[in-house]
Order: sequence, then structure tokens, then C-alpha cells
Amino acid sequence: MLDHLTVVSHPLVQHKLTIMRDKDTSTASFRKLLREISLLLAYEVTRELPMTTRRIETPLQPMDAPAIEGKKLALISILRAGNGLLDGILELIPAARVGFVGLYRDPETLQPVQYYCKLPDHLEDRVSIVVDPMLATGNSSVAAISLLKQAGAKNIRFLCLLAAPEGIARMKETHPDVPIVTAAVDNCLNDHGYIVPGLGDAGDRMFGTK
Ligand code: URA
Repeated sequence: MLDHLTVVSHPLVQHKLTIMRDKDTSTASFRKLLREISLLLAYEVTRELPMTTRRIETPLQPMDAPAIEGKKLALISILRAGNGLLDGILELIPAARVGFVGLYRDPETLQPVQYYCKLPDHLEDRVSIVVDPMLATGNSSVAAISLLKQAGAKNIRFLCLLAAPEGIARMKETHPDVPIVTAAVDNCLNDHGYIVPGLGDAGDRMFGTK
């Protein structure tokens, strides 16, 4: 079982994250780094997946070799920034099923408003990994995970790049069964709900919008 919070302190992750935080890093570099870092984070979030063995034959002899048990993983991206993490993870787990939850943050209330939801079937039999680079207030993540649970998901993990203490606390309060894997925990949120020091708006930085 993963801890409720795992901070991936690996030097490669931390080094890449520092470049991503730098406001002078270009959109192209930001996107490339996010892809690279998502592979390293995926490695951690898939730790302790249930395993089984599969009978195979090597060129020398038969053996019972380790394999991931159960149905294909479900990766659930919270639009739109989640897609930046999703692309890299799919390179590592190409057979995963993919779902999307579209939520935007009302700029006044900071509450999530759902505009899209398409999830893989048989979620009750899959490990689901919800991806969103920024765990800020936690409102979107909590809402997305509630949707997954309504759809039957029982074994859920949450993967992000940066987390604020406020978002972690909100997740722990509402979904204590969902482990969080992140590259860093920052200081706090500012008045606009941005993570400080953070990296700005993850969607804008990866897609080059303002
Ligand atoms: N979403 C972002 O993209 N950045 C933040 O700092 C908080 C939420």
C-alpha cells in the first residue's frame, strides 16, 4: 500500500522541476520536461501494483515470470493540464485505458464546474490513476475522484507534479483512501488559488496560452 503522500525526491525529478518552475523556460522545453518527468513519476505511482506470474518459455526453459495482475490500468486526465502528464505515462503503459474529466475552475468561487466526463468501463476491476499537474485547492481533484467512485472505481491513486498543503489536506479529508504521488509540496496558495512558489498556470505554460 502506498503512503497517503509520496514526494518523489529523486535528483532527476527535482532538477527537471526546477527548470520547469523557471519563468524563462520556453513552452517547448516545459512540455518536453513534463513528458520526461511524467515517466519518472509514473514509475513511483505504479509501485506496489498487484502482481501475478505468467507461464512463459525463455529460449532456455519454461518459467513463471512476474506480470501485473488484473485488468488494464485506467488513466484519468483532468482536462486540460492533465494531458501533459498523460502523454508521457502512456508511453510507459501503452495499453492503459484512458478517461477524461473536464472541469474548469470558476475564477470567483474557485469551485470546479464539470463540462465533460468520459470514463473507461469496469472501473471497479481496475487500478485508476488520476493525473493533474497541480494539486492546488484540491477542489477539482476531489470532484474528479468523486465522479470515479460514483462510476465504481475502488482502487484510485492521484498523480501530480506540485501540491499545496491545502490541497493535500482537502484530499486527505475527503478521499483518505487515495494515495497522492507528487514531485514537491510547495508553501501555500495565493489569493487566486495559485500554488506559491509554484510554476504558474500549468496549462498555459504547456500549451503556450495566456
Ligand atoms: N493550477 C495551475 O495551473 N497552477 C496553480 O498554481 C494552481 C492551479
